[in-house]
Amino acid sequence: MLKDKKIVLGITGGIAAYKAAELTRGLIKAGAQVRVIMTKSATKFITPLTMQTLSQGPVYTDMFSPAGEFDMAHISLADFADAFVVAPATGNLIGKLASGIADDLLTTTLMAQDRPTLICPAMNDKMLANPIVQDNIKKLRHHGYEVMESATGELACKTSGAGRLPDIPVIMDAIESLLSPKDFAGEQVLVTAGPTQEPLDPVRYITNLSSGKMGYALAAAAHHRGARVTLISGPCTLAAPQVDEIIFVRTALQMYEAVMERYAKATLIIKAAAVADYRPKSVSDEKIKKNKGLAGISLAPNPDIIAAIGAKKHKGIVVGFAMETQDLLAHARRKLTQKNMDMIVANSLREEGAGFQTDTNVVTIIDKSGKMLRLDKMTKIETAHRILDHVKTLKKKKGPVGKK
Ligand code: CTP
Repeated sequence: MLKDKKIVLGITGGIAAYKAAELTRGLIKAGAQVRVIMTKSATKFITPLTMQTLSQGPVYTDMFSPAGEFDMAHISLADFADAFVVAPATGNLIGKLASGIADDLLTTTLMAQDRPTLICPAMNDKMLANPIVQDNIKKLRHHGYEVMESATGELACKTSGAGRLPDIPVIMDAIESLLSPKDFAGEQVLVTAGPTQEPLDPVRYITNLSSGKMGYALAAAAHHRGARVTLISGPCTLAAPQVDEIIFVRTALQMYEAVMERYAKATLIIKAAAVADYRPKSVSDEKIKKNKGLAGISLAPNPDIIAAIGAKKHKGIVVGFAMETQDLLAHARRKLTQKNMDMIVANSLREEGAGFQTDTNVVTIIDKSGKMLRLDKMTKIETAHRILDHVKTLKKKKGPVGKK
């Protein structure tokens, strides 16, 4: 979680330097505090004033004229930071860091600190492929630096290949991961998310308002905390989170099959998907024409996926969701018991700040022992972390998750 985290962002002189502006905006929006160090070359690509305005703080460019509140910038910034990020990182910065050369404020600061550090390389594809650069990257990884893979695509020099700065959401995700405890390492987490669509004909379907945001946040949070994550997603318009495996499905039956193929290996199953309870009994191959009339739609029940897992006495932890409009806790408790879940996350469509499309949620967690925990309104990613925290306490009671 980036809220209140202190990030020192190093910017080096590559054409992707302008993207550091967007990264800074993203970090500030997520509630982080950002301090910026720019190399001399970086200031040729983007101005310190831009970075100062966006970061809402001083920008450091010179080893020998420290700005504002810090006396010895390279020491003070090292003390200030929870993490360091260099984006973009040129071949030159990577080479200097790998060789122990500290000849400007950025390299000096990076070498005089021991915080988690993320390096985001961006350079020409041939430069990136250069064996010396590759050796330097290997060396940095060996010494504990997190070095991102560059993205592939069109480069500033009009060629196409590896060497692009990864997209900003991907860098943000890597920073979240860098700052998260790895307390889910070794866990195999299966998350379902989003709605399902139950077709009536090639252009029409039955669905619900689920956006997938809560499920995607849970998948991302578990991945940040070191779990191996499989996400089974209904149709969503969200950017896919960084997880180990994503399976896109459309219907409840497809989701059922995808879950059944994989649930046995999972040590934690989180069913955040809003599965359609019914599907049209027959699906027309052709578009149903208005002038033919439609007397009604006959429906067939879909399998209850979480209940099917509950019935199989799965040894891992099973977490379900309940989204209600009335009698929230009574319905949630009934579902917890009837579907044999270990824990249910109840949220009400009537609550301000909760709901399908919102970025926040207001949930009550109820576990099998009857223990109840109401969380305040918070972002879905914060909610996801709190749900995982609660899973950890359940795990302690239940014994090691995944014992078979
Ligand atoms: N669920 C499921 N398969 C279904 C329906 C629901 O796995 N066919 C799961 C959901 O992913 C969620 C939990 O069951 O974790 C509760 O979903 P909900 O739709 O609230 O439950 P229903 O039993 O369908 O109850 P309702 O009468 O409120 O629709």
